[in-house]
Formats: sequence, C-alpha cells, structure tokens
Amino acid sequence: MQTIYKRTIGAFILILSSCLLSFAQNAKVIEIQTKSTSLVYAVDSNGRLVFQYYGKAVESPAAFLLQKSYPKPDTNRDFSYEAYPTFGLGNVNEPALSVVHADGSMNTELAFDGVEKGETFQGVSETIIRLKDRIYALEVELHLKAFVEEDVITQHVVIRNNEPEAVRMTNFASSFLLLKSSEYYLTHFYGAWAGEMSVVEEKLENGIKVIECKKGVRTTQTENASFIVSLNHQAQENEGDCYGGTLAWSGNYRLTFQVDELKKLNIVSGVNPFLSDWHLKSGESLTTPEMIYTFSSQGKGQVSRNFHDWGRKYGMVGGTKLHDIVLNSWEGAYFTFNEATLTGMMDDAAEMGIETFVLDDGWFGNKYPRNNDDAGLGDWQTNTQKLPDGLDYLIDYAHSKGLKFGLWIEPEMVNPESELAANHPEWVVQSPGREKITWRNQWLLDLSNPKVQDFVYNVFDSLLTTHPGIEYIKWDANRHVEQAGSTWLPTSEQTHFWVDYTKGLYSVYGRIRAKYPDFVIQDCASGGGRLDYGALKYHNEFWTSDNTDPLSRIFIQYGTNLIYPPVGTASHVSTSPNHQTQRMAPLKFRFDVAMTGRLGMELQPRNIQGPDRTFAMEAIQNYKQAVRPLITNGDLFRLISPYDEGGWAAQMYVSKDETDAVLFAFSIEPHTRGIFPTVKLNGLDPAKRYQITEINTNGRSRFWGDGQTLPGDYLMNVGLELKISNQYDSAVFLLKEIN
Ligand code: GLA
Repeated sequence: MQTIYKRTIGAFILILSSCLLSFAQNAKVIEIQTKSTSLVYAVDSNGRLVFQYYGKAVESPAAFLLQKSYPKPDTNRDFSYEAYPTFGLGNVNEPALSVVHADGSMNTELAFDGVEKGETFQGVSETIIRLKDRIYALEVELHLKAFVEEDVITQHVVIRNNEPEAVRMTNFASSFLLLKSSEYYLTHFYGAWAGEMSVVEEKLENGIKVIECKKGVRTTQTENASFIVSLNHQAQENEGDCYGGTLAWSGNYRLTFQVDELKKLNIVSGVNPFLSDWHLKSGESLTTPEMIYTFSSQGKGQVSRNFHDWGRKYGMVGGTKLHDIVLNSWEGAYFTFNEATLTGMMDDAAEMGIETFVLDDGWFGNKYPRNNDDAGLGDWQTNTQKLPDGLDYLIDYAHSKGLKFGLWIEPEMVNPESELAANHPEWVVQSPGREKITWRNQWLLDLSNPKVQDFVYNVFDSLLTTHPGIEYIKWDANRHVEQAGSTWLPTSEQTHFWVDYTKGLYSVYGRIRAKYPDFVIQDCASGGGRLDYGALKYHNEFWTSDNTDPLSRIFIQYGTNLIYPPVGTASHVSTSPNHQTQRMAPLKFRFDVAMTGRLGMELQPRNIQGPDRTFAMEAIQNYKQAVRPLITNGDLFRLISPYDEGGWAAQMYVSKDETDAVLFAFSIEPHTRGIFPTVKLNGLDPAKRYQITEINTNGRSRFWGDGQTLPGDYLMNVGLELKISNQYDSAVFLLKEIN
C-alpha cells in the first residue's frame, strides 16, 4: 500500500514538473470580448489561470503578458489573483471553491489545462477554460458566454470529481470578479413583502459585505442576488464605470464583496454554502448557476439597458413580444366570488379593452374548500360550490367576450387542511420529530423528491390538458423554508436539500417548457419573491409586488428595472384607498404609473364609472397604440430618480431607431405652488425633430408646448418644464419624429 502511494506521488511529481515547464512556455492571454467590453485572464508562468481585467474593451490583450505581479507582504511569492480562487494556494480571501478531498486534505490548487474558444454564432460565443488540480483528479471548467451586442458575459462552472472517492465541497461559487480602484460603491437591494427591490448604495470599505439569502424559496423578497458596482464615485446614470451582476438562481445565494488588504475588490457570487456541503461522488459533476455580468463606462443607465436587452432576448420567454393587458381578480374579489362575480368582471374587462382575464386564488378545493388561505392548497380540483359549471364555462365565457383566460396556481405548497397533506405527509419539507411550522397556514412540498416533481408538473399539465382554453398561468409561491429536511434525501445528503429543491423546480419548469414553449406564465412569490434570471428563463413576466400603491410602485419598479426588463414588470391599477397602504391617489396617477411596465388592472372594474371609466378606457387605448411597443422593446432612460431630493420622478422609453418615445413624469411629494420640475430628456437623436403630444390628459394640459415640434438637442439640453406640482400629479407625453 505504502509503496503504491509513494510511486503515485513520484509519478505525480514527474507529471507536475513537465506540466510546469509547458505552462511556462505557453503563458497566454485568454480574452472574452463583447462589442465594448473585454474580460481578460492569463495563464501565468506557474501555469495558473489568473484574473487580469474586466472593463472597457482593450485593443491589445497581449500587453497583459508583460504584466508583473508583486510579492504579497510577508510572503516570498509573487501574488496574483486566480480566475477561480480556491482555498489551498495562498488565497486567504473569500474562496470560490473549497473542497475536502477523500483523504481529508482541505487544499485545492488548480492549474490551467486547456481552453476551447468557440466561434461567435448568432451573436454569442462560448469559451471553456479547463482547470485541473495539480495533485487530485478534480477538474473545473469555467464556461464563459459572451453576448456580443448586449455587452453581457455569463459564467457558470462545472466541477467534476474523478478522484476515486467522493469529495465534500464547502464552497462552489459560480464566478469571481476582481476590480481595481481607489473607491468602490455598491448598489444593492433590500425589502420585505410589499416593499421589494428597495435600493441602497454604500461605499465599500475594507472587509466583507455579504448579500445573501438563506430562505431556500421566495429568496428575493428581502435581498436580491443582483448588484451594480461603481468605481471612484457613486453610480451616475450616464457616466462612469459601472459593473452590473445578477445570479440566475432561485435558491439560496451569496454574493461577497471583499475589499482586501491590497484595496482590490473581490466579488464571489454563487450558491450560498450555508448548510449546503455538497458530496460529489466519484465520476460525478456539479454545474453551478449562471452569473450574468455587464459593464458600461457610461453609467448605470447603460448597465440597465444591457440587462434589459439581454433579458428580453435570452433571459425570459417571449421578452420581445407585446404582452396582453390583464385584469386579475385578486384585489377585486379575493376569495369571495361566484360565477356571476367573475363573468361580471369579464364583461367590464372586455368593454374596457382588457385582453386577458386572470382568475386568482380561491377557485379550487372541495373537501377543504379554498375560501381563505387556511385550506385547500394542494387539491387542484375546481370548487363546485363557487363554480358549479366548472372552469370551462368561465373559459368559454371569456372567449365569447374576446378575452383570454388565465388561472392562479401555487403547486409547490400544501395546506395541512387538504387531501394532499393527508395522502402524502412524506412529501412535506420537514425535520424528523419536530412540529412542522406553517407559514401563511401552509407547508412546502419537497421538490428534491422526483415524485413531488411529477406531482407539481402534473398540476400544470393536467390543468392545461383538461382545459386547453387556459392561456395564462400565474405561478405563486407564498412561503420560504424555515426547517430544512427531506424524507427523500439520504441522511448523508440532507445538506443537498437547498440545491436539490431548486434543481427540482427547474426540472419541472424545463418539462413544462418542453411541452408548452410559448405559453404565458407569470412568475410570482408573494409578489416579487422569485425575481431572478434563473426563474425568469421559464417565465414571460413577474408579479413585481403585492403592493399596488402607485407611489410605492414608483420606487419598487425603479429598483426592479435597474436589473430586470420593464416588459416583464407586471404593474396593475388598483383601487383607492390602496389595500396595502391605505393611501389615496387619483386614477390618472395610478394609470400613469402602471403604464411604465406591463399594464394591468387589479380591482372590481364595475366600480370605475362615469368620467373615470372614460379616462381608463382612453388610457388603455393609448397604451395599446403607442406606449406598449416602447415598453416592450424600447430603451429605458431614467431622468429623475424618486430617491433624489426634490420629490419628482421621471423616465422615458425610446425606440431603438430613436423615432418614437414616451415620457413619464411624476410629482411624488407636495410642492410649493409654482415649483415645477424641468425634465431633461435623453436617448433622442439631437438632430431629429420630435412632435410632443400629451396623453392621459384627463382634460388638463401639463405642458406649454403640447402639440409643438422641438429638436432633440433642445429636449435633451434645455428640457421641458412640466406643470405638475401637487403630490400625485403626473404627465405622460408621446414624442414622434417629424421630418
Ligand atoms: C400572493 C400573490 C397575490 C395573490 C395571493 C393569493 O400573495 O402575490 O398576488 O395571488 O397570493 O393568495
């Protein structure tokens, strides 16, 4: 045994030294390029893959070969940052990878083992960099995709264990990024139910700032696995070096921002290692989620536009298609409805120009009817008391009115008061011997279990097979994990639960999309609790927040649209006083705010009568005719942030060819009489002339020049003084190029 061991070591040393020699000879630069950015790695003379640069495109990447690293204080070695830092090679910063090998060794040392650079095909190129531990048969592949036009680079990692026995991974991040500057400013998100995507910016000082979630499900209600980092100063809209990042993962995540002793910013992003040790068996591999990056030297405005362009095309389903205007039944009816309530809503919806009617919670459960949130979840049969003629009657009714029909489901969940809970107690996420904690009176089903995956898939598939007239599903998830534990996973793999849950969810989503590629699905988790590009890949839109108050929405959607596209941002007009905040706001303000995203309504439309009804119908027509195409495929320019002092907010959407635009302006605080905002436009062609037309006027003009034609450079440099001053005044203008 001893001899074999020695021989193996000897052979390793031989191989190692020959490797080192060839590495020294083959020192090389690996560049990943998009239209205006470069990401550069180099293989150094020791055969290590080191991080060199990410930022504005560089013309001569070969210059990086000349770059020297400096000895780190107190060491006798040169120090450079690995592209995928492991523990075990002098890296004492946050590691991307840490492994306990089968023999108990805790050190991993990756060396470059090759690179495959694919051709650019349809605007995307993939580079795969292979790394290998110098001693153990552990392999790592960095998969980098460059989306050329969108200036987006994504990275995921495949870790393969060819060691004879299982290894235990205690960190397995998706990516590492190194930034060098004198100051770093981090924009990130926080919030709560009904207050998602609040924005905060802070200067990063030495030490580690962590953005993370340990809730397993509904992981973006509080934080979001997204950020913008600005170098040297706070992020500006239109200038300065800004990096955006967002992790495509709906489970636990961890993003660490470490300003180290050398004042470099190390960003490690990926799955949260919290209670998630991963046992990688011999011969198996693990693929990490995708980290999505963009960079702009023209501020955070361009960072958002890059994400939007990428998101519409690659990050969601049907992102470049016009989305229907929806009436959702929730705030108008809650759990209390019968057929007449719903057909009445559909009558009004059709008359007002709505295109899809969505029946929300409360339509299912018979033994345990879903008349409030304490029963019925899991029993996906139509409630015969409320809907004696079945779903098809409602679907046919919708169709007879020219409406599409949509339905709410929450298939990952179960109420203790349900037939499902009685039939399959083993499917519930639980901890042996402990009471199962409810949240909103419900338990979570264990999606790591393939039988549960089948069940969840079948909820969706049976509904659509039985009722082929359904054309929209709202998929909700209203709780997170508080006790982890699976009756399915073996004892030794209980820590796989977090990752396996999310993989199970994606497997269900994947099966659904294989059968229903274009079907419209809304991503919802108590509002914006599952807002990440991991889930969005399978969805057409997201329910941004349960908070439908227009003032709150200005802030929530400002934050949301820093990273995620307006076309997916479901934004509904609701009643006043608002049900979440009790705030009163005029119907015009409610419509104007809702029209900045995917417009919908969420109220009893019968209650909108008289001039309000005329106004609402006009606004819906305006949205269809002129606003919706711009929200869908236009570029978003933020003009005034609601977070700025002054009490205004303004933004516009400009068509890619700069011929059409829509401008929104809001007064969000009371202002002294006569104080009006001057809004400087952006994104127009300075040489073109634009005719300005106010819409949604409700009988009052808010601009001296309504109907006038003004040059782009005037609009962008001088701006428009708008007559909005009282709190909840607002104005919407269309701009059209006139030759
Ligand atoms: C969640 C959703 C709401 C609504 C309710 C129904 O809170 O976010 O939009 O669907 O569930 O129970």
